[in-house]
Amino acid sequence: MSVAPLLSVRGLEVRSGGVALVEAVELDLLKGQTHGLVGESGSGKSISAMAIMRLLDAAQFEVEAQHISFEGRELLRLDEGGMRHVRGAEISMIFQEPMTALNPVLPVGEQIAETLRVHQRLSRTAARKRALEMLDWVRIPAANRRIDEYPHQLSGGMRQRVMIAIAIACQPKLLIADEPTTALDVTIQAQILELLHDLQSELHMAILLITHDLGVVAGYADHVSVMYAGRIVETGTTEQIFDAPLHPYTEGLLRSHPPVDADLAELATIPGTVPEPHLRPEGCRFGPRCAHFREICDQADPRLMWFADHHRAACIRPRGYVVNDLLEVEHG
Ligand SMILES: Nc1ncnc2c1ncn2[C@@H]1O[C@H](COP(=O)(O)OP(=O)(O)O)[C@@H](O)[C@H]1O
Ligand SMILES: [Mg+2]
Repeated sequence: MSVAPLLSVRGLEVRSGGVALVEAVELDLLKGQTHGLVGESGSGKSISAMAIMRLLDAAQFEVEAQHISFEGRELLRLDEGGMRHVRGAEISMIFQEPMTALNPVLPVGEQIAETLRVHQRLSRTAARKRALEMLDWVRIPAANRRIDEYPHQLSGGMRQRVMIAIAIACQPKLLIADEPTTALDVTIQAQILELLHDLQSELHMAILLITHDLGVVAGYADHVSVMYAGRIVETGTTEQIFDAPLHPYTEGLLRSHPPVDADLAELATIPGTVPEPHLRPEGCRFGPRCAHFREICDQADPRLMWFADHHRAACIRPRGYVVNDLLEVEHG
């Protein structure tokens, strides 16, 4: 890769109570691009994001990594003050349920203004003026009235817009959006994704778009990483993931994602569920659910291997390839 990534994660491991929740997680995010992180619920997507932001409670979680570097700075080595600066000005995060992240007893305009006063040292008047512009920017109609309303007076979609306004108030270089549209109905979902997409090109901001829904990343991501039971099992460009998936889990996700006019009754789902961290099988962790399972798959949990430029998968028998005993990849 010729361009240095904005965010680079290697060997991220999070343990809780002696059990590994995520292992060997790696991610590379390029400036201004959208990277989709996809997997069923319980795969470890949120834990990974929280670990990158260093938001996991040290009393409950142990976090280790070879590196988590952001613009060449090692986030693991920053002190809490340095990390607070990164979270306030350089990496922002939005969540599935904005109601829990917003203060219920403070008007939404105040909450945006507060961010601006703290991080950009704006005066009270300047911050309010800017908050109004921000509400316009995230396309909240009648912003000059909405600015004095409380979160419960807004719809779910409007609340998510407020969260986005707070998240981009300081023009971060990276926005981590964890299931940002999961709680919203389909029409609103599309509007929020459009909004994020437009803001991204205006701000040249990278987005880590976390979702259980491959359909969400299809239109918006440049790269996609697929996570299963605590590991990245495939990563590639969006075209590679959608047009030439290698891992049977990715194939399964694609099959269970309905095209717009699909008959839902014919939808194939992957049998079974994601195993709890302490119940992961030895060998390939997808083995018990895999349609292409062979005896050899029980012997070791495969690591990510290269199959093409940008394209890696953790499977020893992906479609169209043979991986030999030396873990060399051959066409076959
Ligand atoms: N506070 C916690 N303590 C122990 N295990 C946890 C905790 N939070 C999440 N987990 C476990 O970690 C795994 C990954 O969870 P999570 O990152 O929330 O998945 P996702 O966001 O992909 O749905 C799950 O098996 C979950 O049960
Ligand atoms: Mg989650």
